[in-house]
Amino acid sequence: MAQLLVKGGRPLTGELSMPAAKNSILPMMAAALLCETDSCFEQVPALRDVTTSLALLHQLGAKAQWSGGRVRICPAKQYGKAAPQKLVSSMRSSIFYLAPLLVKNHTVTLPKPGGCRLGARPIDLHLSGLAALGASVCEDANFVKCSISRPLVGTNFCLSFPSVGATETLVMAACSAKGTTTLCGCAKEPEIVDLANYLNRCGAQITGAGGSCITVQGGRPLTGCRYTPLPDRITAATVLCAAAACGGRILLENTRSGQLSALLQLLERAGCRVYSTFDTVLLESDGHLRAVSAQAGPYPQLATDAGPLLAAALLKASGQSTVTDTVFEARFACAEQFAKMGARVWVKGRSLQIAGVRQLEPAHLNAQDLRGGAALVVAALSARGESQIDGVCHIDRGYEDIAALFGALGAKLTRTP
Ligand code: EPZ
Repeated sequence: MAQLLVKGGRPLTGELSMPAAKNSILPMMAAALLCETDSCFEQVPALRDVTTSLALLHQLGAKAQWSGGRVRICPAKQYGKAAPQKLVSSMRSSIFYLAPLLVKNHTVTLPKPGGCRLGARPIDLHLSGLAALGASVCEDANFVKCSISRPLVGTNFCLSFPSVGATETLVMAACSAKGTTTLCGCAKEPEIVDLANYLNRCGAQITGAGGSCITVQGGRPLTGCRYTPLPDRITAATVLCAAAACGGRILLENTRSGQLSALLQLLERAGCRVYSTFDTVLLESDGHLRAVSAQAGPYPQLATDAGPLLAAALLKASGQSTVTDTVFEARFACAEQFAKMGARVWVKGRSLQIAGVRQLEPAHLNAQDLRGGAALVVAALSARGESQIDGVCHIDRGYEDIAALFGALGAKLTRTP
């Protein structure tokens, strides 16, 4: 199993341009199946979840390839009935294939999706929304089955929680439903706006994305297009938190600073100097942070995916910090790994409490989920000596090459096979 060796204790300096967002490209790769013709996505990093999605698309009967940062997807007329369990259960994004396959095949049986163990992660909002649009839905412990005997029909549906994935599933389904669908209680994440922009460029008529109420005039034919997804705001958060913790001066380009406001305000409160334009962020830090308390929640609050990253940056901050996650009930599995480095951390319900220490020691760490794993890299970069991180396969799901990402800023990370 691959490992990362991380030499800590050095400031981070340099410039980086952010890749396309994992959480934009993954739903878009599924949405491309709604189109009659090819779609081509640009600046797509070679993430493990992108590779898995390409394999899933192939197994379903679509042509899909990644070449030099460009993903081309050629939809099929009909798709295979069986989505392979091994692929589907390896990522949460498999759920995005439910709506397109339902619309195209009229019936779909999908193994339950996998993904990071952040809590229960049910799919009830996806399923109740599809049922409201006219699908018949049934699920057991391992599979979900949906079918339609006639086209979906537009309706009004309210999400009881602003679920990102459920909002995206229902926007996709509504594009194929006859008539108007109004979704309220929607998630407002930028990746939802990005999906709506892609679908509208394909011929859909979606309004209100980015707000809590989205309206879709469905039943319009969709033709594929060329599209460049948004920059990845969580990759940006990862690098910003590392530079805050290690000290240094970094300039991020191709970065929507407005989508990072909550994090940037927290890092400034912790003692960093931040200078932003629309698409750049310059951060300077002396590596000696003040404790802050933060709450992660639905956008525009601090992104839940940034919670562990910020926590890693605060492990040596002077004073008591708290990071609370109101989205997932088990976000801080990384806490026990932080403790191996001498960090003083306690998980209390959905909160991680941190009493800053003067120094973090190198340790043999084990990544258990994507952003928790990235948080271990942040902590190891700000620790003394050389740490070893197992479970790199989790990190590879969301970062093309995290060693190269930080290597460009002067860090010393080595990947062993
Ligand atoms: C997406 O996951 C992202 N993944 C996650 O990023 C991100 O953390 C999350 O949104 C929140 O922003 C992708 O886009 C591929 P949710 P998703 O549905 O869609 C509950 C990463 O590291 N819920 O908004 O699964 C659920 O249990 C990943 O890049 C229901 O109750 O998140 C959770 O508590 C991790 N019923 C909350 O909503 C449902 O039907 C938020 O989940 C669906 C969700």
